[in-house]
Amino acid sequence: MTRKPVIAGNWKMYKLIDESVDTALNLKPLVANATHCDVIIAPVFTALKSVADRIEGSNILVAGQDCSTQNTFGAHTGEITASMLLDAGCSHVIIGHSERRQFYGETNESVNHKAKAAIGAGLTAIVCVGEHLAERESGDAENVVSEQLSGGLEGLTANDMERIIIAYEPVWAIGTGKTATPEQAQEMHSCIRRFVSKDHGSEVAAKVRILYGGSVKPENISELMLQADIDGALVGGASLDAESFAKIVNYR
Ligand code: PGA
Repeated sequence: MTRKPVIAGNWKMYKLIDESVDTALNLKPLVANATHCDVIIAPVFTALKSVADRIEGSNILVAGQDCSTQNTFGAHTGEITASMLLDAGCSHVIIGHSERRQFYGETNESVNHKAKAAIGAGLTAIVCVGEHLAERESGDAENVVSEQLSGGLEGLTANDMERIIIAYEPVWAIGTGKTATPEQAQEMHSCIRRFVSKDHGSEVAAKVRILYGGSVKPENISELMLQADIDGALVGGASLDAESFAKIVNYR
């Protein structure tokens, strides 16, 4: 099964509108020949529309960093529906990032509702999973990730799963400079494919793209991408600079 790689940049809570547009415009020519993978950037909400408008027609896709569990308009102050992200020019949305789980009360249940809302609006959801250091050290990593997947993807049909990308991001590797070794990452990625197979069948599992995230840099991307079950990367810090992100996109 050949799976098209995905290299996604998560800009987190960085960059004002002008800087976001500048970075996207700088990135555009640097990744223009990257037909080997899907290239995605996830600016802050306020910059989405400006960025999407300025790179329209390029091979760069735009993602939101979160969306509401609600998919209809309503009295939900501060929330943004998946359809509003689509309206702003997004094709993707990141859901369940560990920072949202850790600091903003995201649960497997809310991830599930958000994933359904995203798919319902026609977006592709990048669903993040990953264990904390203590969970890895106590031998619990696989259980934690398995629960995040079964809860987060509960009730999704095989058709829905075509609009799901999974990102495995061990929390201890995010922003710490500590990458999981390619072997550690591969081990969990192959578990994840097994978990998906158990819940959604082997055909879905063979097709679903599983990204690695956590201190991915130009220096370590090639080695990670050599692993059989690593289908791309979700990049934080190293995606903020167009040249560094382009090097990751052009990893081969
Ligand atoms: P990092 O972040 O690349 O800065 O470690 C990854 C992420 O949080 O998606």
